[in-house]
Amino acid sequence: MKQTPAEATITEKAIASFGNTPDARLRHLVQSLTRHLHAFAQEVELSEQEWLAGIRFLTSTGQMCDGLVRQEFILLSDVLGLSMLVDAISHRAQSEVTESTVFGPFYIEGMADREYGENMAFTPGVPALVTGTVTDADGRPLANATLDIWQTATNGMYSGQDTEQPVGNLRGRYRTDHQGRYAIRTVLPVSYPIPTDGPVGQLLSATGRHPWRPAHLHFMIEAPEHRTLVTHLFNHDDPYLDSDAVFGVKDSLRVVYTPRGASDPMGEAFGFTGEFRHASYDFVLPRVSS
Ligand code: BEZ
Ligand code: FE
Repeated sequence: MKQTPAEATITEKAIASFGNTPDARLRHLVQSLTRHLHAFAQEVELSEQEWLAGIRFLTSTGQMCDGLVRQEFILLSDVLGLSMLVDAISHRAQSEVTESTVFGPFYIEGMADREYGENMAFTPGVPALVTGTVTDADGRPLANATLDIWQTATNGMYSGQDTEQPVGNLRGRYRTDHQGRYAIRTVLPVSYPIPTDGPVGQLLSATGRHPWRPAHLHFMIEAPEHRTLVTHLFNHDDPYLDSDAVFGVKDSLRVVYTPRGASDPMGEAFGFTGEFRHASYDFVLPRVSS
C-alpha cells in the first residue's frame, strides 16, 4: 500500500530530529538507520503484534548475553550475514594478503602463551599439526608475530562455553620465530552447530535453516605496523563448506590435513607418538597504512 501523508510525516520528523547531531558520521548513521527501519516497516506493513514480537526477540537476545563467552547479538549479526558483509566492506581491494572471516562470539582474551609446536589440546581427538609462516605482502617474514588460536573440542564446544573442559583447552597464543614460522599442535577440527538454545536458534528453526559450521581453526594474528588479521582455516573436505550457518567460508582459507606416520621426521620433531594429520598455511598481513 502507498505511504499515507501521515506516515511520511512521522518518518521525516524522526529523521530530522537527529539533524543537530554534532558528529557528522554519527548523524549519518542514525538518520540512515531511521530511514531504512521506517522503509522496512512500510514495505512489510508491520503489524503491532509483529513489532512487539520483534521487541521481545531483541530483549531475549540481550538477556542471553553473559559478558564472557555468550554474545547472542554477535550470533544474530552472524546468521543474518551482516558480520560477513561488514568484513567484506572493511577488506576491499586487498588481493595479495590473506582473507579475513567472521570473528564469532567465542574468543577469550588473555589465554596462555604457548611455545613453538606446543600442544594446546587437553581433550582427545585426532592428533594434528598446523605449520606455516607469517609474512608481509612482499614475502618478508614477520618475526615475533602473535597468533591467538581457538577451536572447539571434538564435542563441538569451546572451553569456557563448556565448563567441563579444562581452562584454556584448545586455546593459546603462539609466536612466530625469527624466520616468521609458527607451529601449532592440536586435534583435527570438527564441524559443530552454533548455539541453538537461545533466540537465534529459534529464528533458525522457524525459518528451516540448519545451525552447522564447517570444521575450522580460528586465528587472530597481530604484528607491529601490520593490520590485525581475524580468520579461520577450514578443513577442505567438510560437508558444510557450502552452507555455513554464518556465511564465513572463503575458498582461499581451505586446508588439507594430510595423514602422516609416526616415523615422519615432523612427527618426531613435535613429539607425536602415533599417526597424525598435518596442514600447512602461509599467512600474509597487510601494512597498517595499506
Ligand atoms: C565460531 O566460529 O566460533 C562462530 C562464528 C559465528 C557464530 C557462532 C560461532
Ligand atoms: Fe568457531
